[in-house]
Amino acid sequence: MKVSVKVPATTANLGPGFDCLGLALPIYNEITVEETVMPGSGIEINVIEDSETFDILSIPKNEDNIVYKAIELLYNFVGQSVSDIKITIKTNIPVARGLGSSASVIVGGLLAANKLLGNPADDNVLLSIASEVEGHPDNVAPAMFGGFCLSSMEDDGSVSVSKIEWPEDWKLTVLIPDYELDTRIARSVLPETVSISDASYNVRKCAMLINSLYRQDSEMMKKCLKDKLHQPYRKDLVKGFNELCNLLENKDDILGCVISGAGPTILVISKNDGFEKVENEVKDVFENINIKCDIRTFTVENEGSLVI
Ligand code: HSE
Repeated sequence: MKVSVKVPATTANLGPGFDCLGLALPIYNEITVEETVMPGSGIEINVIEDSETFDILSIPKNEDNIVYKAIELLYNFVGQSVSDIKITIKTNIPVARGLGSSASVIVGGLLAANKLLGNPADDNVLLSIASEVEGHPDNVAPAMFGGFCLSSMEDDGSVSVSKIEWPEDWKLTVLIPDYELDTRIARSVLPETVSISDASYNVRKCAMLINSLYRQDSEMMKKCLKDKLHQPYRKDLVKGFNELCNLLENKDDILGCVISGAGPTILVISKNDGFEKVENEVKDVFENINIKCDIRTFTVENEGSLVI
């Protein structure tokens, strides 16, 4: 028996919501897990590239693979050990670009393996295993449930998630550059401690961001997509970010410009034809710094993972 799961890309943080806010985007990976019939065949991991530009060679094909690690934790949870298993990852989400490719394959592997085992684990267990492997829940929550998710890893390792409606007409444009940024590097530049004033700045921006979503208030949202906890330290790793923030500040119908997850993709949130009006100027920014950039505009992905 084999099970395949389609899982969306995600953009995390959205400015002030470091490690707790995330949103699903309609780009998908497909993860297939099968128990191999031949006993003793061990682990087989195949990666199939669905697009041209992704560095699939960097994905480990042994027990170090994060999908395998997540599946092993699930098997351990039900008191079994993984023996002979084949994992096939069909990638369409760019790797190491801040678009949740690792969360997507972890979630896909877990959902597929859980189905193979007869669904012994509920969503809470799957979410907490996925967050443990990923290190934080902000990508895995929307990868599982779709839409905009507010998530919190609790002290006991459990994860609380709230899904909040994202306005259909708030468009999401991702500016995906042609270089990778390892999340471990993007986290290593963050300070151990921050000032109380920076922490307080993010708390109020994040609280108001949630409020603007409930109110679907784009004018309030414009004031909320700001951050002092991670972007100031990462901006030099994300080429063009400063220039874009300056360009897009106070433009009509542009709600904000943030680093997508740990970068290097940049997310621009707009409404109406806000992005179309500035698209050529955005392209000029990347041309001036000699970076090739794939620009894609989406509406939110609301379905989340799907067993197919
Ligand atoms: N919240 C994470 C970070 C997302 O910013 O490092 C990337 O995995």
